Amino acid sequence: MTDYKFKSPTGMHDIFGENQRYFERIFEVSKKIAREYNFEKIETPILEDKKLFEESIGNTTDIVEKEMYDIKTKGGEVLALRPEGTAPIVRSYIQKDMYTLPQPVKLFYFGPFFRYERPQRGRYRQFWQFGLETIGKGGAALDSQIIKAFYEMFKELGIDTLVEVNNIGGDKCRPEYKKLLQESLKSQRKKLCENCKRRLKENPLRVLDCKEEECQEALEDIPQIIDKLCDECKEEFKSLLEYLDDLEVPYKLNPYLVRGLDYYSSTVFEFFVQDDHLALGGGGRYDKLVDLFGGKESPASGGAMGVERIIEAMKGAGIEIEGENKKVFLAQLGGEAKRKSLALFEEFRKEGIPVYECFGGDSLKNQLSRADKLGVDFVLIMGRQECIEDKVMIREMESGKQETVKIKEAVKKIKKKL
Ligand code: HAM
Repeated sequence: MTDYKFKSPTGMHDIFGENQRYFERIFEVSKKIAREYNFEKIETPILEDKKLFEESIGNTTDIVEKEMYDIKTKGGEVLALRPEGTAPIVRSYIQKDMYTLPQPVKLFYFGPFFRYERPQRGRYRQFWQFGLETIGKGGAALDSQIIKAFYEMFKELGIDTLVEVNNIGGDKCRPEYKKLLQESLKSQRKKLCENCKRRLKENPLRVLDCKEEECQEALEDIPQIIDKLCDECKEEFKSLLEYLDDLEVPYKLNPYLVRGLDYYSSTVFEFFVQDDHLALGGGGRYDKLVDLFGGKESPASGGAMGVERIIEAMKGAGIEIEGENKKVFLAQLGGEAKRKSLALFEEFRKEGIPVYECFGGDSLKNQLSRADKLGVDFVLIMGRQECIEDKVMIREMESGKQETVKIKEAVKKIKKKL
């Protein structure tokens, strides 16, 4: 392997070439969908007070325990590179007095996030998310619409998805269920992985989505949350499923789905590629988060999808994104021709005709071979003679036909032929 003087940091990648085209497509489609569903764009800073994440995501979660990049500033503030987007948006909702706006406030974002994880398939240290959040009013109808919006985005990108849904209970029923779960898992403690042994005390719900085989076995006979929900949560869940049926979103009930962040209550969901267990993203209700940050209690709901994982899913589905296909190439030879060609390029640009060029000093032969590789329909050649006569030669690549025209007529001629 080449020994470079500098490399991008582990788990962080340049987004270039083919991947940049996928990124752009995902950005365009997600933005279009967000607008159609009345979400407004928000950008929050990359850095936030570290406590913002500790208090919302939860001290016993992987993100807070192991994955945050933190920074102590010269002024003594302790900041963290944002590992997710929900907590910063709730912070902004309160700080910007968004209560005064029509509720719910519906916001979307598209940007980079940071988690110090072990890089592997679908897991990077800098990754991108597209997210939707609604704050200020809640309910199953809003939850179902968020899920529908993500579903439609995936459909437009050409990915078949299945959304898994669950209800993890609210203030009334979850504490009771947690105790029950703890009791039930205590007898199986020996079977649990080391992480879950630890989680059992602080956050037993997390044991439910542990992927370790031994933990899965321990989960076989545990009480299911769905049977322990209070009437309110039960009703909420029933309504959500009815709305999803009406909206024709394919879903699957997953009683073990709990999500890895502590701020959720009631509805949770996660999107998967059909026939693959790659999680594209997830979300749910976080009705207590505004209150937790010192704001007026406001119901809230949202979700976020991982852009790199969407790209992987698109590639897996055989979706290719062609590079820009320009039809014209401008070639020139000599200093004066270069000067006139630069001006001619501007004429084409102003007329909205995309043109490839090569002003870097290549030989005419190299320029023509590049034009050939790019597969353009027309090459405009300005050699020394043409340049003296204020002319340019137009070559039709397929037929090989050539004609020489006045420079000032070139744009009009090409326009007719395109
Ligand atoms: P999350 O499940 O932690 O939720 O992340 C959402 C998605 O971001 C994941 O499903 C995955 O696609 C992507 N993702 C997360 N970590 C990585 C990584 N290290 N490398 C690549 N992709 C990754 C949240 O972040 C919540 N804020 C979602 C939410 C919004 N809930 C309510 N509103």
